[in-house]
Amino acid sequence: MKGLILSGGHGTRLRPLTYSQQKQLIPVANKPILFYGIEDLIGAGIHDIGIIVGPNREQVREAVTSVTWDARIEFIEQDAPRGLAHAVKIAEPFLKDDPFVMYLGDNLLKSGSADFIRDFSESKAAASLLLTEVKDPTQYGVALVDEQKKVIVRLVEKPKVPPSNLSIVGIYGLTPVIFEAIDHIEPSWRGELEITDALHWLIQNGYEVRYRMVTGWWKDTGRTEDILEANRLILDTLKPGNQGRIENSTVEGRVAIGTNTMIRDGSVVKGPAIIGDDCVITGGSIGPYTSIGHHVTITRTEIEDSIVMEGTRISDGEKIAESLIGKEVTIEKNGRIAGARRYILGDSSQVRL
Ligand code: DAU
Repeated sequence: MKGLILSGGHGTRLRPLTYSQQKQLIPVANKPILFYGIEDLIGAGIHDIGIIVGPNREQVREAVTSVTWDARIEFIEQDAPRGLAHAVKIAEPFLKDDPFVMYLGDNLLKSGSADFIRDFSESKAAASLLLTEVKDPTQYGVALVDEQKKVIVRLVEKPKVPPSNLSIVGIYGLTPVIFEAIDHIEPSWRGELEITDALHWLIQNGYEVRYRMVTGWWKDTGRTEDILEANRLILDTLKPGNQGRIENSTVEGRVAIGTNTMIRDGSVVKGPAIIGDDCVITGGSIGPYTSIGHHVTITRTEIEDSIVMEGTRISDGEKIAESLIGKEVTIEKNGRIAGARRYILGDSSQVRL
């Protein structure tokens, strides 16, 4: 069994972060979202993985190859985000005649996909999907299952009138017959070749498409709120540890502190929280539910329920909450005009005062 992880696409809903960063590389609890998917597949026994790369292909390649994986990893270039089925089609020379698991690189699954993959590999089904109940099915691919609750009888992508509240989760068990199905579908209203349409073609042509319900939480990290929620969920399971130095400060709860990091001058760190390597926290209050990347400096600032990425400097930032702060950002007191705020913000930035 092979794995195919999708790490292309523009990530427009996550701008401005995705102008400079591929969305699957955004860190949750200080680890790129994409790495959780790679680890999940390897944990399920898949050691032959193709990764679809798009707009920031070099960035993804560099991040993935900077780690030693217990897997052979091949990068497959997609010229533009032409749809999930297009990504599968261009991966055919890599996938060949093997069954495979397609994993959307921005999805996170608490219990992992090992049970689902085992079930699928033992079945004779043409495809198998993971499903979950959602409040607003119009945002997802939606499945209708038969009365015996054994197989899927209808699939539709982001329907205006959903046939059920069962959403497709971004992990798919597929067999090579999917290539024939993809040859029979046309681009959807959003101009993409939809895997949902290809799977529906399989059903209409007499193939069995099975399913399994998700256990534990599942997150599609398409929007900032989802990333912050994923951060909270992962931090709740964080392994605590301290490799830094704590001076005249308090650290309480589930907290992980990296090497060479200094927490000093009456700082307070409330878990769950993770602070990377080479950080300096001076008179700050960090957490709960906060991830601070490597090489970050925080001075006299309170940060809660947030992600702060590598190389950022914040001083006298008052109270910051529910924020996603990118790499190498500077937030500091404006010294020139008293009482005035000064902004230098890129396109699509968001400020809520
Ligand atoms: O998250 C679950 C949903 O994922 C399913 O319920 C839907 O049926 C499925 O179509 C998909 O919907 P999204 O609108 O969330 O897909 P999105 O365009 O966000 O793409 C999913 C991932 O695949 C994302 O990490 C980007 C990557 N991608 C996307 C496209 C269209 C590619 O690598 N290449 C592409 O051409």
